[in-house]
Amino acid sequence: MGTKQFKNPFPVTTYLGAEFFCDREEETSRLISNIQNGNSTTIIALRRIGKTGLIHHVFTQLPSGWKGIYIDILETENLNQFLNLLATSIIRAIPEKSNLGKRFWNLLKSLRPVISYDALTGSPQASFDIKPKEIENNIHSIFQFLESQEYKIVVAIDEFQQILKYPEKNTDAWLRTRIQQLKNVVFIFSGSQQHLMSELFTSPQRPFFRSTQIMKLDKLNSEVYCNFIVSIFDRYKKRISAENASQILDWANTHTFYVQQLCNRVFSSTITEVTTESWKHQAHQLLDEQEPVFFTLRTMLTKPQWQLLKATAHEGILYQPTAKVFLTKYHLGTSATVLRSLKTLLEYELITKEFDANGTPYYGVYDVFLQRWAELSI
Ligand SMILES: Nc1ncnc2c1ncn2[C@@H]1O[C@H](COP(=O)(O)OP(=O)(O)OP(=O)(O)O)[C@@H](O)[C@H]1O
Ligand SMILES: [Mg+2]
Repeated sequence: MGTKQFKNPFPVTTYLGAEFFCDREEETSRLISNIQNGNSTTIIALRRIGKTGLIHHVFTQLPSGWKGIYIDILETENLNQFLNLLATSIIRAIPEKSNLGKRFWNLLKSLRPVISYDALTGSPQASFDIKPKEIENNIHSIFQFLESQEYKIVVAIDEFQQILKYPEKNTDAWLRTRIQQLKNVVFIFSGSQQHLMSELFTSPQRPFFRSTQIMKLDKLNSEVYCNFIVSIFDRYKKRISAENASQILDWANTHTFYVQQLCNRVFSSTITEVTTESWKHQAHQLLDEQEPVFFTLRTMLTKPQWQLLKATAHEGILYQPTAKVFLTKYHLGTSATVLRSLKTLLEYELITKEFDANGTPYYGVYDVFLQRWAELSI
């Protein structure tokens, strides 16, 4: 604690700042423009593509007069915990001694939470032990408070699909109504479970339908990402050729988290120059580390499911899972068997269904490391 640690310039779980963040200029401008125009946005994307990173990036570039509050609700199980986290995030995001901070502490005290302090970091934490009706009232009071400040506020709620798991009924309907009444508070919703996020925001039966701007976050442009990787190595007096950087991107399917993970390892294991052998060695090392997880996964799947996963891994991008050539090439049996396995693998989120530029659907293995491992396995 206290000592400044050297940070690897390729973060895999955190956001380190604009200088370690590649591109997303268009998306950043669009989000900021939505914010300034009072429109809430829902970010929909594959897992591990950079949604959370983008939110933090946008927060560093908010126009003056705006404040950002980020909450990740993955670990909340009910509306009471949502309230606790919301209150805690606000006290942590706003300095206690600022006018806004003072006013918020006053409001908070009137709501009578228990305030405790993290033993390690000293950060305050608010928790409420109250009746269900009061929980809703308190969330409402906090929103009303944010609404009536001289600052405009962006509240980013990450892992938003978690509200579907709350035992309270119709949390989304209730929240939507509350949120709609706010003029000075804008929201960003994001979540890693794409199908649930789509269900929440794009299904006409859902309260949030058409209530936000939908932003589909795609993979980064590979040329831009390649230059970015080369320039970061360069900044630290290490070298990687554009060719090797581009091979890394291909190996990791330009999927942000996997690219970052591999670059992180390659960076830390390189003294002066990356070679094709050295990055490949790191890639294999990553797969080795994951192997126990993949073994377990394999035993959980039926034989036809595993065969289909492996065949998809080999193909990389699979357009027609029931085409005769595909079935024969990998000895997959009948198309009915494949369709059954495909359904399960999609439900398990082991395989993704995406659409290309023409709107044609295709399939691929979700986890890049699993794909590369399955490709090699017999
Ligand atoms: N454009 C980028 N340039 C560099 N690093 C990035 C970029 N986008 C994301 N990252 C980094 O990659 C890692 C994974 O990204 P992030 O956690 O934002 O993905 P996510 O889509 O939120 O994932 P999940 O679906 O698991 O929530 C993080 O460390 C993040 O900072
Ligand atoms: Mg995330």
